[in-house]
Amino acid sequence: MAIDWIRLQLDVTDFDLARFQPYVDRCGTSGIRLTTLSELGDTPEHRRALYELNKECSADIPERGDFHAYDEYHRLRFEVPAYDPRGVVLAIDGDKWVGMAATSDRRKSGFVFNEMTGVRAGHRGRGISVAMKTFGIGFAGICGVSTIRTVHHPANASAIGMNRTLGYVDADW
Ligand SMILES: CC(C)(COP(=O)(O)OP(=O)(O)OC[C@H]1O[C@@H](n2cnc3c(N)ncnc32)[C@H](O)[C@@H]1OP(=O)(O)O)[C@@H](O)C(=O)NCCC(=O)NCCS
Repeated sequence: MAIDWIRLQLDVTDFDLARFQPYVDRCGTSGIRLTTLSELGDTPEHRRALYELNKECSADIPERGDFHAYDEYHRLRFEVPAYDPRGVVLAIDGDKWVGMAATSDRRKSGFVFNEMTGVRAGHRGRGISVAMKTFGIGFAGICGVSTIRTVHHPANASAIGMNRTLGYVDADW
């Protein structure tokens, strides 16, 4: 049966930073550092760590199926014009990567695209995904666009709920 994907969109010019900054601040006070792959270093080791984090979190996406092998992931995610390490936000607890929010540069089409947001199971429900996406909201401006798009499986209630909390609305693109 065809999947009725949930297509969502956010206009960052309406983004209520004052409302969501407390999520970022809460990460700081609980010892979770937010950064980007660009700031941390876009190295082979860090790309591999991002893959491992992505793979673990993707296991909880409804009907996701088998995850890519690393070579394929590297080709699809890093070796494409839309890849920009400034769009990859990481949440780090001590020395452990616990969350990622990866956004790609689709400026030629007029938007940036949330490729993958994930938080390791033991760290969920603490607002980390909202904090990461708030921390990374400026990436749209870096790319010179004001629209962020994303798409979710209809059964992915946590991801859809998280994006609606941030102000994403249904879109018919
Ligand atoms: C989706 C995911 C990233 C959410 O991460 P998280 O850090 O636990 O989410 P948060 O704690 O930031 O939740 C933020 C908001 O999302 C909403 N939310 C979270 N879980 C929800 C659920 N099960 N149902 C409905 N809304 C939910 C709430 O509105 C919450 O805001 P609040 O805490 O102010 O009420 C996480 O569940 C995950 O990694 N899932 C597996 C990977 C995945 O499916 N990624 C999305 C596909 S790209």
